[in-house]
Amino acid sequence: MRAVVIVEGRLEIEERPDPVPRDGEILIKVKAAGINGADLMQRAGRYPPPPGAPEDIPGLECAGETEDGERVMALLPGGGQAELVAVHHTHVLRVPERVDWPQAGGFVEAYATAHDALFSQAQLRDGERLLVNGAAGGVGTAAVQLGVQSGAHVTGTVRHHRAEVEAFGADTDPSGEYDVILELVGGDNLTENLGRLAKHGRIVVIGTGAGAKAEVDFGLLMRNRGRIHASTLRARSVEEKEDVLRRLEGHALPLLADGRLTVPVEETFPLEHAQAAYERFAAGGKFGKLVIVP
Ligand SMILES: NC(=O)c1ccc[n+]([C@@H]2O[C@H](COP(=O)([O-])OP(=O)(O)OC[C@H]3O[C@@H](n4cnc5c(N)ncnc54)[C@H](OP(=O)(O)O)[C@@H]3O)[C@@H](O)[C@H]2O)c1
Repeated sequence: MRAVVIVEGRLEIEERPDPVPRDGEILIKVKAAGINGADLMQRAGRYPPPPGAPEDIPGLECAGETEDGERVMALLPGGGQAELVAVHHTHVLRVPERVDWPQAGGFVEAYATAHDALFSQAQLRDGERLLVNGAAGGVGTAAVQLGVQSGAHVTGTVRHHRAEVEAFGADTDPSGEYDVILELVGGDNLTENLGRLAKHGRIVVIGTGAGAKAEVDFGLLMRNRGRIHASTLRARSVEEKEDVLRRLEGHALPLLADGRLTVPVEETFPLEHAQAAYERFAAGGKFGKLVIVP
């Protein structure tokens, strides 16, 4: 098979042996594979893949056909940006009929991350006020839509694409207090978030692109009886990831199937243009996802 391979901080297209599924795994012929921030960090040598994942082939999500011709999308520990990938059979979801390959290829990592953060960690409830910082990216557009669909009042902060985020039913001007704050940018935002937290408010930190350190005023947190959570998805066990996917399947898949949730795909790139796709990702200013189509 052909695969995107990380070679000393660059991407090359190489011929590699086809993956051989291990116990409990199935083989997917990849039709589309989303790009995530973690892929760029791995390219830069700052995010080694977890044990058992392909060492130098990036790609945390994909969509494609099984050997039985079934259309599936998958959460991967790596290896998705290739013509073939092996994945644990519990880490796949069926692709709804109306969803095309690029959208399916960019769904699972972004939506699983957003869904787990909002509902399993922050326990966002109907009618609560949700703030999403970094709302125009892959996880952000997923979180805004999930929040709106679950009956929350959603505000998303953005640097670009204000109108597109508002079209999901969200505000884009943060004011007042929030019950849940999903932090996808990091850095100094945490200081500001503490001032915006309502009583019993929850902050979930998922992304730290703008920095992993910030000053915390514990007084504000104590006064509001607030909580700060943080998590990563990639390093979880097979069973923990299965749990995330079954929750996503039960709640979000029907909404994706009838069009209430979408995956905004800014641009697709053939495998050969993976390097250009990563540069486009690094440049910022995109709306939603960039997807490689082998
Ligand atoms: N913990 C986990 O398990 C997990 C899983 C998935 C993703 N992540 C992380 O979560 C973050 C979001 O992921 P993603 O896939 O949504 O990435 P993405 O598509 O690149 O989106 C990031 C968004 O944040 C905005 N942003 C970045 N820096 C900013 C700043 N300094 N001020 C304001 N806005 C800023 C970007 O706006 P511009 O386009 O204007 O730069 C972009 O809209 C990334 O850091 C990613 O690595 C973590």
